[in-house]
Amino acid sequence: MPNHLLSLKEFSKEELVWFLERAQVLKKEKKAGAIHCQLAGKTIGLVFEKPSTRTRVSFEAAMYGLGGQVIFLSARDTQLARSEPLKDMARVMSRYVDGMVVRTFGQEVVNELARYSTVPVINALTDQHHPCQVLSDVMTVIEKKGPVENLKIAWVGDGNNMANSWIQAAGRLGFELILACPKGYEPDGIILKEAQAEAVRPITLLRDPAEAVAAADVINVDVWASMGQEQETDARIKAFGGFQVNEALLEKAPADAIILHCLPAHRGEEISDAALESSQCVAFDQAENKMHMHKAILEKLIGGN
Ligand code: CP
Ligand code: NVA
Repeated sequence: MPNHLLSLKEFSKEELVWFLERAQVLKKEKKAGAIHCQLAGKTIGLVFEKPSTRTRVSFEAAMYGLGGQVIFLSARDTQLARSEPLKDMARVMSRYVDGMVVRTFGQEVVNELARYSTVPVINALTDQHHPCQVLSDVMTVIEKKGPVENLKIAWVGDGNNMANSWIQAAGRLGFELILACPKGYEPDGIILKEAQAEAVRPITLLRDPAEAVAAADVINVDVWASMGQEQETDARIKAFGGFQVNEALLEKAPADAIILHCLPAHRGEEISDAALESSQCVAFDQAENKMHMHKAILEKLIGGN
C-alpha cells in the first residue's frame, strides 16, 4: 500500500477494494455501538486552503472516532500564506503529527508535501482530484446497487476534479463510466487516456446528457463552478445549459437509477431542487459514508493496520 493517498492511480484494485470493504465493516461496527481506539496516541494535521464542511468534519469525526487527535490549520493562518516553502512545511509538520490531510489548489502542492514529508499525506481535494470523496461514493454505490463492476455510471456536467477521480476509479475497479461534458469542459485528457488503456469496461466521453443517462444505474452530478472558479460562474452557467439533472433528464433514465451529488449543491444550476430531494437521490448517505471511508483510510495509512 502506498504511504500517501494523492490520487487513486497509485492504488491497485485490491487496495481500493480493501478500503471499500473495511469502510463497510467500520460502519457496521459503529452502528452496533462499538468503541474504536486503533489510533489512540496518534495525531493528524488538517491543512485546508479551501472551505469545507463535509470533508473537514468527516475526517475529524473519523480520527476522533478511532481514538486519535486532530489539529486543524486554515492555510491562510499558517506561514504558507507568507510563502514558507512547502518542503519546509512538510518536514516541520512531520515532526509534530502522524499524518497530514490537505485541501488545496494544485495537485503539485500535495505531491511536493508528500515528497518531503516523512508521514502520510492524504489529498482532501485538489483542482485535479478528490480521491477520498470518490472512494466513499463508490462505497455508497455498492451499498445501493451491488457489485460496482456490473454497473453503468453516468457523469453529467463538468470534467472536474471529481470526474477525474471517477475516471481513475472506473479504470482500476472495472465499471462502465459514461461522461457527458460540454465542449471545453472535458476531464483531463491524460487521465482519461490512461484509464481507458487499463479499463476492462468502456469509459466514454459524450456531449449529450440524455445519452449518458439512458441506461445508467447511477447518475453523478457536481457543481458547474468549482472552488477557485467563482469568477467563471456566469460563463459556466451559459456553457452548461441543458446539463441540469432535473425531472426532464430523469425521464430519459431508468426509474431506479440513483443520483449522487458530493455536495454542496447549487439548486437550480446543476441539479433541480426536486431531483435533489427525490427518493432517487442518495447525497446524504454519500455524505455519511465519507466518515466511514475516512476511518478506513486513516486506519490503514496512519495506523499502518
Ligand atoms: N463533498 C465535499 O468535499 O464537501 P466539502 O467541500 O463540504 O468538504
Ligand atoms: N468540484 C467541487 C467539489 C466540491 C466538493 C469543487 O472542487 O469545488
